[in-house]
Amino acid sequence: MGFLCSTRFVLLTLLISVIPIAILISLESATPSSHQYHFHSSGFLRECSKYDAPNSRFIVSFMEGGLGIIPISNSTTTSVLPEIPVVKDADLYTNATLGLTIDSKRNRVVVVISDLLGNKYSAVAAYDLSDWSRLFLTQLSGPGDKSMGDDVAVDAEGNAYITDLNKSKLWKVGVTGEYLLPIESPIFSPAVWYHKLATLNGIVYHPKGYLIVSHTTTGNLFKVDIMNNNEVKLVKMIGKSLSFSDGLELLSPNRLVVASMSGISLVGSNDDWETATILEKAPVVRHRLATGVTVKDAKVYINHLFGIGYPKKKHVLAEAVFAVL
Ligand SMILES: *[C@@H]1O[C@H](CO)[C@@H](O)[C@H](O)[C@H]1NC(C)=O
Ligand SMILES: *[C@@H]1O[C@H](CO)[C@@H](O)[C@H](O)[C@H]1NC(C)=O
Ligand SMILES: *[C@@H]1O[C@H](CO)[C@@H](O)[C@H](O)[C@H]1NC(C)=O
Repeated sequence: MGFLCSTRFVLLTLLISVIPIAILISLESATPSSHQYHFHSSGFLRECSKYDAPNSRFIVSFMEGGLGIIPISNSTTTSVLPEIPVVKDADLYTNATLGLTIDSKRNRVVVVISDLLGNKYSAVAAYDLSDWSRLFLTQLSGPGDKSMGDDVAVDAEGNAYITDLNKSKLWKVGVTGEYLLPIESPIFSPAVWYHKLATLNGIVYHPKGYLIVSHTTTGNLFKVDIMNNNEVKLVKMIGKSLSFSDGLELLSPNRLVVASMSGISLVGSNDDWETATILEKAPVVRHRLATGVTVKDAKVYINHLFGIGYPKKKHVLAEAVFAVL
């Protein structure tokens, strides 16, 4: 998740977007209306939000490090909800928390921790969904080997797969956090240099036993067959291709939602993700930078990186309104 090919880009965009607040407010009101959850946050940057259905709340990752929850049980459409911090690990200093996935079966959330500015540390951690205790913390890279852990998916056995945005690979970690192996393939790596600036990004586990992974700058999707020697295949797009891809979420076994800064795509496949087609698109609030998607009650909600306002930063989770291309 997160179009983070350059943190400088993010910081620059942030600086630019803080100044002309009046312009932003007028942009906001020009945005297509859909159901939205608004929440007040202590931070400007929120990379990923996932809906935790059994607990009626969103879990949000903090780019300044840590996790928060947005309980929605008492919300009305007009209220701005509070963001309640639940995890802040002192031993992770200023590392960011990026992609997250809710592993309801094991009552835990699995998150990616990453040193955004230096790319000198990546890790995966799991926290208990009831008391937020840390169940494991597994270092994946650093400080000598530059990498950038970005997003994570968990399979039926509880193994976690983490994308490396910098080095075009996955890391596999076992159910108790033990490091297992890297998953690498030349198919992941495009030949053109500028497509190496931000590589593997979003990842989901498909209930039939494979992973779907997105590549940031090419928009490519890959199928990784974890039951068959981690074989990697490019998902062949029929018709239009995706141009950028960020966070992913499965709406059903044959419908995938792909976030990107230019819009949200609903992608369909009828052959187990050997081939796929863009079926519908939903617009995004562009200046807030859409980085992720989550599903709540069969509806898709879009996570936006940027909050706006001072001292409280208001963030928006907006329902995606799809229309046929
Ligand atoms: C990836 O790492 C290389 C060094 O190995 C660095 O030059 C490059 O800027 C990094 N790219 C990103 C997107 O962080
Ligand atoms: C919802 O409201 C009830 C009654 O006012 C309160 O007890 C409960 O804590 C609230 N729940 C949340 C998630 O705010
Ligand atoms: C990230 O966390 C690791 C592990 O504690 C630490 O060594 C490193 O200095 C941290 N990096 C940043 C940028 O805070």
